[in-house]
Amino acid sequence: MPTTRTPVGIVGAGPAGLMLGHLLHLSGIDSVIVENRSEEHVVERVRAGVLEQGTVDLMHDVGLDERLRREGMRHEGIHLRFAGTRHRIDMSGFTGGRAITIYGQNEVVKDLIAARRTTGRPLYFESSEVSVLDLETSSPRMRFVHDGDEHEIACSFIAGCDGFHGVCRQSIPTSHLTAYEREYPFAWLGILADAAPASDELVYSMSERGFALFSMRTPTVTRLYLQCAPDEEIDAWSDDRIWSELLARLSTLDGWQPNVGPIMQKAVTPMRSFVAEPMRYGRLFLAGDAAHIVPPTGAKGLNLAMADVKRLSNAIAAFFATGSEVELDRYSACGLKRTWRAQRFSWWMTSMLHQQEGNNPFDYRRQLAELEYLVSSTAAMTSLSENYVGTPFD
Ligand code: FAD
Ligand code: DHB
Repeated sequence: MPTTRTPVGIVGAGPAGLMLGHLLHLSGIDSVIVENRSEEHVVERVRAGVLEQGTVDLMHDVGLDERLRREGMRHEGIHLRFAGTRHRIDMSGFTGGRAITIYGQNEVVKDLIAARRTTGRPLYFESSEVSVLDLETSSPRMRFVHDGDEHEIACSFIAGCDGFHGVCRQSIPTSHLTAYEREYPFAWLGILADAAPASDELVYSMSERGFALFSMRTPTVTRLYLQCAPDEEIDAWSDDRIWSELLARLSTLDGWQPNVGPIMQKAVTPMRSFVAEPMRYGRLFLAGDAAHIVPPTGAKGLNLAMADVKRLSNAIAAFFATGSEVELDRYSACGLKRTWRAQRFSWWMTSMLHQQEGNNPFDYRRQLAELEYLVSSTAAMTSLSENYVGTPFD
C-alpha cells in the first residue's frame, strides 16, 4: 500500500470536520477528509437548527454566509411555556444585542461541502475500515479503503471529528482518557412538518405530560420535538398520536397552538451528557461530538463543535507558521472550559423542563416555581440569555 502525505488528516465530514478543512484551506494548509457515510446521508441527516452568534460570525468570516444571510432566520427572543402560558425572554435585550439564527445543520453541511469541492482538496465519502495509528509519534497515520483501494496517509496531525460513535476517541488508550457521563431516562421524538410556523420564535414547554419544543426550518416548515421514553418504538407513534400529544403540551390558554400539517420525517434521539478529558492524545486532537455530547435542550452541540475547530485550526496554523506548540498545548484546556459551561447549561435546561419517572407533585411544583422565578427575574433571564446566545468564540 503506497503511503502519501498530508499535513492534517481529518476523520469525519460532519460540521466539525468540514469546517476544520475549510479553515485550514484558508490558511493555505492541505488536509484529507475521510467520511464513512454517503454524501446524501450526511446532508439529509436532520439535526441541529440553532446557530449561536459565534457560529454565524464564523460562517461570515470564512466567506460562507451568503445563503445563511438570505435564508437564516435571526431570533432575538425565545418563549418558555408552562401552566398554559407563554413567557417571552428578550435575549437580545439581555445580551447587548446578541441573537441566535435558525438555519438547519444540513444547510451548513451543504454549504461546507460545496466550498470543499471548490478547493479541489480531497474529501472521501463512503470510506470503510477507517483507522488511525502511531498517534504518539510526529507522523501519525490514517488508513481507509475507498472504492476498493487501500489508502495510507502519513500526517503531521490527525483531527478526530468523527462524532460520538467514531473510531478516533476509541483509539486512545483508556489509561489516557477520563470519561464523564450521564444518561437521561428519556429521549426526544423529533418531526419535520409541512406547516407554516405558528410563532416567529421558539417555544420551550414544560408540562405535566412531559417536555415539548416548537422550532422551525423555513417559513413553510415547522420542527417539533416531544419528550418520550428512551427505548421508544417510533412505530408506536402514529401521526395522529404525535399531533395530539404536541398540541396538548404546547397549546396555551390564549388559544395559541402550532399549525398541523403532513409529517415529512420523524426520528427518536437519545439524550446524554458526555465529556472526554483531555481532548488530545499525542498528535490526535478530538473536536465536536467526538469529545463531548450535550443534551439538545440547550442547543449547544453544533456550536461547541464550531468553537473547537476554530481554536484547533488557529493552533495548527500557528504551528506551521512558527513552529510554536503553545496553542496546541492549550487546545484541550480551553475547549474543556467552554464544554463544561455548556454542559452545566444544557443539564440545567433539561432538568428544569423534563418530567422524570419518580418525580412527584412536589417536583412539578418546584419546576413551576423555578420557571416563575426565571421569567420574573432580570438576573435569571440575563443568565439564561447569555448562555443561550453563547459567548464569543475565543
Ligand atoms: P457529527 O455531526 O456526528 O459528524 C461526525 C461525522 O463523522 C459523521 O458524518 C459520521 O458519519 C462520521 N464518522 C463516524 N464514524 C466514522 C468513521 N469511523 N470514519 C469516518 N467517519 C466517521 N446542536 C446545536 O448546536 N443546536 C441545536 O439546535 C441542536 N439540535 C440538535 C437536535 C438533535 C435532534 C440532535 C440529534 C442533535 C442536535 N444538536 C444541536 C447537536 C449537533 O447536531 C451535533 O453536536 C453536531 O452534529 C456535532 O457535529 P460533529 O461534526 O462534531 O459530529
Ligand atoms: C432545535 C433543536 C434543539 O435542540 C433546540 O434546543 C432548539 C431548536 C431545532 O432543531 O430547531
